[in-house]
Amino acid sequence: MTASLKQELEASIRAIKDYPKPGIVFRDITTLLGQPRAFRRAVDELVHPFAGNRVEKVAGIEARGFILGGAIAHQLSAGFVPIRKKGKLPHDTVRIAYSLEYGVDEMEMHRDAVTAGEKVILVDDLIATGGTAEAACRLLRQMGADIVAACFVIDLPELGGRKKLEALGVDVRTLVEFDGH
Ligand code: PRP
Ligand code: MG
Repeated sequence: MTASLKQELEASIRAIKDYPKPGIVFRDITTLLGQPRAFRRAVDELVHPFAGNRVEKVAGIEARGFILGGAIAHQLSAGFVPIRKKGKLPHDTVRIAYSLEYGVDEMEMHRDAVTAGEKVILVDDLIATGGTAEAACRLLRQMGADIVAACFVIDLPELGGRKKLEALGVDVRTLVEFDGH
């Protein structure tokens, strides 16, 4: 990615101070999504390394990972798999608990959403501590998925999420990095 595109994408992401609580700078991708060129370029950059590869499914993490994951799946002519917060999927599911800043939550996917050996890309908007993405990777692997990569628009490197996924042997792709929260 060129330095100017990186700058353009960084500039398209709004920073909101003290949200959702004092001391946190929230990185808001709605401004990127709302700018036609930034949205397209972000999706194109995330898709680029996989053009020509056989990717069968894109798994998106609720909620913001659905927006990017849907667009990426379309570009790759792949299927889309929603990884949802518990209780939202109607058929048989596999479920996993994961840690949030306060407490724990659970996510799930349909048991038949991926088959053993399928090549899958995991997508979310942002990786911070990596707890969410790590749980999603474990869920996908439990179903036998071959995780080709995990893709995010934003990395907050200080929070260690990339390293956590890499320790699981997952190839991590991100477009822009911000300090702190
Ligand atoms: C945010 C973000 C990632 C996750 C990253 O989602 O969209 O999914 O947190 O955090 P982590 O790397 O520390 O696990 P959030 O849980 O706020 O939900 P949303 O996407 O439904 O808004
Ligand atoms: Mg999220």
